Amino acid sequence: MILRTATPGDINALKELYYGTITSINIKDYNPEQIKAWAATAERTESLLRKINEQYFYIAETADKTITGFASLETSGYLDMMYVHKGFQGQGIATQLLKKIIETATTLGIQTIESEVSITAKPFFEKHHFIAVQQQVVVINNMQLTNYKMLLAL
Ligand SMILES: CC(C)(COP(=O)(O)OP(=O)(O)OC[C@H]1O[C@@H](n2cnc3c(N)ncnc32)[C@H](O)[C@@H]1OP(=O)(O)O)[C@@H](O)C(=O)NCCC(=O)NCCS
Repeated sequence: MILRTATPGDINALKELYYGTITSINIKDYNPEQIKAWAATAERTESLLRKINEQYFYIAETADKTITGFASLETSGYLDMMYVHKGFQGQGIATQLLKKIIETATTLGIQTIESEVSITAKPFFEKHHFIAVQQQVVVINNMQLTNYKMLLAL
């Protein structure tokens, strides 16, 4: 697996991966209306482009350039995105992406990584020593979704 920095040219592949993962992986933890509202944010091209341009935004891909996952970190220490392709779950891809995010955060002198993670992703982050500090409800396209604020002290 190859890790590289995302570029604006990746945007369509990233949107497709994001939509596919939410509608087939997160569906086990959220109801269909919540999934529809969340997956619809895949259409926010400007927002994704801004993240690619402004965040430390990493992509995992295979040797034949299939994108298998992506993750991003703000300079503040906020881990924003973490999505693995629906066909590549459970193969250690998020673990590799998180390792890269932690390396970047360490280089930047960040002391705590903060994230807001889905019910689906919480066990993954707990396995990697994040602590859930708050269960919260977020509103996405007028639907309420539960997630967890989680912290990792570096
Ligand atoms: C959460 C997610 C990123 C994990 O990606 P992944 O590449 O499958 O994770 P890894 O293969 O690196 O998993 C590492 C470990 O965490 C465990 N793990 C991952 N997801 C888990 C889950 N839902 N429940 C329990 N354990 C889980 C794995 O079993 C693995 O443990 P092991 O090494 O002992 O086998 C992925 O499931 C995903 O894309 N989820 C949907 C998107 C999402 O909710 N993202 C967060 C948005 S806020």
